[in-house]
Amino acid sequence: MQIVRALEELRAIVSEWKRNGLSVGFVPTMGALHEGHLSLMRLSVSQCDRSVASIYVNPTQFAPHEDLDSYPRQEQADMHALESVGCDLVFCPDAALMYPEGEETRVSVPDMGSKLEGQFRPHFFGGVATVVTKLFNQVRPDKAYFGEKDYQQVQIIRRMVTDLSMPIDIVAGETKRAADGLALSSRNTYLTPEERQIAPSLKAALHRAAIRMRNGTLPGEAISEAVETLERAGFAKVEYIEAVNPATLDPVPSQLPDHPCRLIAAAWMGKTRLIDNIPV
Ligand code: PAF
Repeated sequence: MQIVRALEELRAIVSEWKRNGLSVGFVPTMGALHEGHLSLMRLSVSQCDRSVASIYVNPTQFAPHEDLDSYPRQEQADMHALESVGCDLVFCPDAALMYPEGEETRVSVPDMGSKLEGQFRPHFFGGVATVVTKLFNQVRPDKAYFGEKDYQQVQIIRRMVTDLSMPIDIVAGETKRAADGLALSSRNTYLTPEERQIAPSLKAALHRAAIRMRNGTLPGEAISEAVETLERAGFAKVEYIEAVNPATLDPVPSQLPDHPCRLIAAAWMGKTRLIDNIPV
């Protein structure tokens, strides 16, 4: 596995692969890798001739009060993990490469990016869309892999790729969970042992709401019950639980939806913000 920090070197390697007719898969990450990331890399290895991961903690997707400085960093462990699942190249750019002096260009997906997460983290999807565009231009993959745990992120990247005619297939990998149901996330390391015990209630509450909706309970009622359950379980604040159209992320009508929908949630467990989602 090659570790590349310079753009010229990355371009030379990828160009050579392309000259030889090889397809390129790409898994962008911020490091602190877990089984969710590794499952995306395995998917890429199974579908593409060559697979690239990037590790870059992107400052533009963090607000000043958020956890940019404390975000877990473990480059050596990440390298071993990526190598063990067949990654061919890890691209580790630095801030000077990603945001050179004088840079000012931003990519935004304003409507989809202002819903759900966007209401609480207004800076977030602009930062993601911008850095992912840069990474796509640098790596030039044929396929790129994103985890469904960040469901809104996947849909926004799909929208962006379509709108900007980027010739890249976006592949979504299913959410990986601990045995007790908690969605894997690099931020789970922030949870205290007591919080970690309670955190799986988020998935459990969404699951129960989804079953109730399938059995005829109106979305509003099923969601209210889920919010109450989480507050009783010890979640500090439920920022949102919404039933949305899986493609547009628009709220489904308050009467029973006659089409598939997705339950999407964000809630605070102590100082840790957890997100999750499940199909209904
Ligand atoms: O999902 C993430 O880890 C990040 O948002 C991404 C896509 C790597 C962009 O920084």
